[in-house]
Amino acid sequence: MRYHLKMADAPDLFPLGVATGVAHCNRAAEQAELKRNILAGDHTWLWGRRRMGKTSLIEQVVTALTHGRRKVAAAAMDLLVVHDAEDFAARLRTLVEGVSAQLVPARRKSGGKLAEAFSALNPQFSVGTMGLGVKLAPSARPEQGVAELLLGLDRAAGLHGRRVVVVFDEFQQLGALQPSSAQRSLEGAVRHAVERARHVSYIFAGSQRHLLAAMFEDEARPLYRLCRKMTLGRIGAAEYAAFLRQASACWQRPITAEASDRILALTARHPYYVNALCARLWSAKQPPTPAAAEGAWARIVEEDQRVAAHQVLRLPSSQRALLKAIAAVEGGVRHPASLAFLAPLRLPTSTGNRAKEVLEQEDFIRQECNGCWTLVDPVLTSYLRGLAK
Ligand SMILES: Nc1ncnc2c1ncn2[C@@H]1O[C@H](COP(=O)(O)OP(=O)(O)O)[C@@H](O)[C@H]1O
Ligand SMILES: [Mg+2]
Repeated sequence: MRYHLKMADAPDLFPLGVATGVAHCNRAAEQAELKRNILAGDHTWLWGRRRMGKTSLIEQVVTALTHGRRKVAAAAMDLLVVHDAEDFAARLRTLVEGVSAQLVPARRKSGGKLAEAFSALNPQFSVGTMGLGVKLAPSARPEQGVAELLLGLDRAAGLHGRRVVVVFDEFQQLGALQPSSAQRSLEGAVRHAVERARHVSYIFAGSQRHLLAAMFEDEARPLYRLCRKMTLGRIGAAEYAAFLRQASACWQRPITAEASDRILALTARHPYYVNALCARLWSAKQPPTPAAAEGAWARIVEEDQRVAAHQVLRLPSSQRALLKAIAAVEGGVRHPASLAFLAPLRLPTSTGNRAKEVLEQEDFIRQECNGCWTLVDPVLTSYLRGLAK
C-alpha cells in the first residue's frame, strides 16, 4: 500500500470508524495470514478486544482481495444488529442474494448457474440497472434456511469458479440469541455448512473471549475445532511511531520522537484512542509538542469521563479499589494479587485474587509482555488517576 499523505486530511488518516487504505497502520503479518487463510479455503476465528481493529483488518484484506486478480467475492454480517433466529436467517438470505449476484459476470442477463445452485430455494431473477437481482425464498425453519443458503452459496461459487469469503462479525452475539435452543440449532446449521464448504472461506470475528472460546474450543459445541485461530493484539510501538512520522509529512517538519512517544504512551497504543487524539492534533497548523498532546488528551478524557465513571460505578467495591490501585502505578503492577499490594487496600488475598480474575475476564486489565498488569482502556487510566489527585 502506497501512502498519499499530502492528499489525506486528518479525518481520513485517523478515522473513528473502520480504518482502511491510508489510515491502516501496519498489521502486515496479520493481513498476510488472513489473506492466506481466505485463499486456501481455511476458516478463521479472529479474537481481539473491542476497538482493537478486527473490522478494519478484515475490511483491509477483503477489499484488497475483491479488487485483486483473483476477484474474490465477499459479504459481511455484523451480528450486533441481529435480535433473533428469524432475523439472522433473513439477514443471511439478503447477504447470500447479494454475494451470489456478484458471481454472475456483468454482461450475463440470466442466473442459470444460480438457479441450479439454489434450486431448493425457488430462486427468482430480475435484471435492473445495477445488474442481476436475485431473490431466494425463506425456509419454514430458520436453521434449515441457514444451512440451505450457505450450502447453496458454496455450490454457486463452485459453478462460477470463484472464491467467496463470508464474514460474521461480533459472532459471539449468536450465543446471545433467544431462545438458547435456537442458538444451538443455528450454530449446528452454520457448522454443517462450514464443514462442507469448498469454495467459501469463513471468518468469525468477535470480542468477547469467553463466549467465543466456549463456541470454538468447547468439544460439546458444534463449532469446535473448525477454524484457525488468530488473536489480534496491539500494533507495535515501532510500527506506530513510523506511521505517525509518515503522517506528519503534511507539515514542513516532522513530528518529534518525544511528541510521538507521548501520544503512544497516553493512548496506550489503543488504536481507537490514537485516532481520537491524532485527529485533533493533526488539525493544527504545526506538528504537536508533548504538551499539546497532553492538553488534547485531557480534553478527550474529560469528554469520555461520564462513560468511564459509569463503568467504574457499576463494579463491586473490591474490584473498584483494585482497578484504581493498578491505574495509579505508572508502567503497571507486577503482582496485583500479592499481599503487599492488597494490604494497603485492606483487601484479603482471596477477595483480591477473585477481583483480579474478574477484572481480567471483563477486559478491564491485561498483562503486558513484560509481565506487568495495566488497564486496557487509557481513558479509564487517566480518569482514575485524576480521581486520586
Ligand atoms: N490498523 C489500524 N491502523 C490505524 N487505525 C486502526 C487500525 N485498526 C483499527 N484502527 C482504529 O481503531 C478503532 C477501532 O477499529 P475497528 O476496526 O472498528 O475495531 P474492532 O472491530 O476490533 O472493534 C477505529 O478508530 C479504527 O479507525
Ligand atoms: Mg468491529
